[in-house]
Amino acid sequence: MALRIEELSPENIADVLRLPPQPGDDEPVAPTAWSVAEAYVQPTAWPRAVTDDGEVVGFVMANWNPEEHEPAFRAGIWRLNVASSARGRGVGRFAVEEVAAEARRRGVDRITVLWDARHPASPEQFYLRCGFRPVGELFGEVVGELVV
Ligand SMILES: CC(C)(COP(=O)(O)OP(=O)(O)OC[C@H]1O[C@@H](n2cnc3c(N)ncnc32)[C@H](O)[C@@H]1OP(=O)(O)O)[C@@H](O)C(=O)NCCC(=O)NCCS
Repeated sequence: MALRIEELSPENIADVLRLPPQPGDDEPVAPTAWSVAEAYVQPTAWPRAVTDDGEVVGFVMANWNPEEHEPAFRAGIWRLNVASSARGRGVGRFAVEEVAAEARRRGVDRITVLWDARHPASPEQFYLRCGFRPVGELFGEVVGELVV
C-alpha cells in the first residue's frame, strides 16, 4: 500500500465520481457527486481523494468552520467513501488520520463525525476502532469525537 491524500484534480475527478455509492444505492453516505457539488458552493469544505499507488481508492471530505453555530460541525469528517474492493485494508483509517493531521495543522484539538447507528451497514464499529467516542446525538445520528 502506498496511500496518499490528494486535492481533487482533472486527473482524479472521474475516478472519485465512480466511487460507491451511486445514486439509489443504499449506503450510509452520500454519493461523491453530491459531496463534490456541495464542496463547490461551501468554501469551508475540504474534499480529498485517497490514492493507492496512484489509483483512487477513496474520498474524504472534512469541514473546517470555527464560526459554525453547531459545535459538531466546526471541524471534522463530513463524508468518507472507500472503494468496495479496497475496504478492510486501512484506507478509511488512513483518511481519518489525514483529517486529524490537518486538524492539528489548523490548531484544532478535536474532530467530530456523525454516523447512523441504525443503518444495516453502519460505520459505527469502524469509527470506534479509529478512536472516536460517542459524545451526543444530532438529527437521530450519533456524534462521535476524536481528540487529535
Ligand atoms: C466505513 C468505511 C469508510 C471503512 O473503511 P475501510 O477502509 O474498510 O476501514 P479500515 O480498513 O481502515 O478499518 C479500520 C478499522 O475499522 C474496522 N472496521 C472497518 N469496517 C468495519 C465494520 N464494518 N465493522 C467492524 N469493524 C470495521 C477494521 O477492522 C479496522 O480495525 P483494526 O483496528 O483491527 O485495524 C468503508 O467501509 C466505507 O466506505 N463504507 C461505506 C460508506 C460509509 O459508511 N462511510 C462512512 C459514513 S460518513
